[in-house]
Amino acid sequence: MSVLITGIGELTTNTEVSGDALVVDGDRVAWVGDSGSAPAADERVDVEGRAVLPGWVDSHTHLVFAGDRTAEFGARMAGKPYTAGGIAVTVNATRAASDEELAAVVRKHVAEALRQGTTFVETKTGYGLNVADEVRSARIAAEHADEVTFLGAHLVPPGADADEYVDLVRGEMLDAVAPLVRWADVFCEKGAFDYDQSKAVLVAAQQKGLGLRVHGNQLGEGPGVRLAVELGAASVDHCTYLSTEDVDALASSDTVATLLPACDLSTRQSLPPARALLDAGATVALASNCNPGSSYTSSMAFCVTTAVLQMRMTVEEAVWAATAGGAQALRRDDVGVIRPGARADLHVLDAPSITHLAYRPGVPLTHSVWRQGQRAI
Ligand code: NIG
Repeated sequence: MSVLITGIGELTTNTEVSGDALVVDGDRVAWVGDSGSAPAADERVDVEGRAVLPGWVDSHTHLVFAGDRTAEFGARMAGKPYTAGGIAVTVNATRAASDEELAAVVRKHVAEALRQGTTFVETKTGYGLNVADEVRSARIAAEHADEVTFLGAHLVPPGADADEYVDLVRGEMLDAVAPLVRWADVFCEKGAFDYDQSKAVLVAAQQKGLGLRVHGNQLGEGPGVRLAVELGAASVDHCTYLSTEDVDALASSDTVATLLPACDLSTRQSLPPARALLDAGATVALASNCNPGSSYTSSMAFCVTTAVLQMRMTVEEAVWAATAGGAQALRRDDVGVIRPGARADLHVLDAPSITHLAYRPGVPLTHSVWRQGQRAI
């Protein structure tokens, strides 16, 4: 079944292709161009001057969780600092939850994101922290998300010996989880894993054929970015505190700097130096980091708005970072773009241009969403 979409007021494709109309055939984009030369299709939909862009690609979330950390957030807003230790609260609740309860949480947040224009979601394990709970987290994640990352190295479980835990993660746990995931990640930060521990996990994962991602430089400057670039990770996420050397290293590498501004706001950190990264030539992605501790939002539009209003990104840079940038951070070329052959993931705004995402902050602008060629919203 093919659908011709016409009346596009502004089309953002993130490619050389342009026009005011497109054809969706099955789950793919079949054609993009000017409506005057559009091919025939089974159906026609007129979006009446609205802007159309690729669905958001949310390349960093932690959706396999249970429990509630509202009180921790409230305490933070009253001045208490964020620390990695809060992860343990979610670990206890996650271990106590049933498979169905965990699956319901993932489904709920993926659906919530879809309603806001997110058509592609990466999510992680990392609230299990033992072999059985990491495996079931990966299995549940794989049932509901597009890409899954193994984050056994999220925190040393309270009471465990750090080196023994690293050996478990890069040994038995990795062996058990690897068949279910594409990516491995570590939280390389004070209070979580140091450079050597992080490297040991990532090297073992690389040897198993997994792609690498790193949580780095979230709470202060540290070795995360350096390690990510050294090992050729696809992405280093957070990048809130960067030295000039970190910026230069990212600019001369293929590692994407994934910025998570909602997290920095929710933890009362500085916002990441997006302008320095872009001006140096680094590739920047934006993601929600949706998780119950440091960033409980699934709103990519909020991240884009923040990036424009507070991080000095242009609207075009921010929208690219939240679509094609996320895809690049996941090494995908079939999402985050609108071109023949790409996945037909479309976000129609109730606005004539993407500029309205920042011009009308906080206003829900999603008019309709197409995911894999189907009208989802
Ligand atoms: O990306 N930085 C580490 N992990 C999450 C936080 C998880 C939590 O606090 O529960 C993050 O911010």
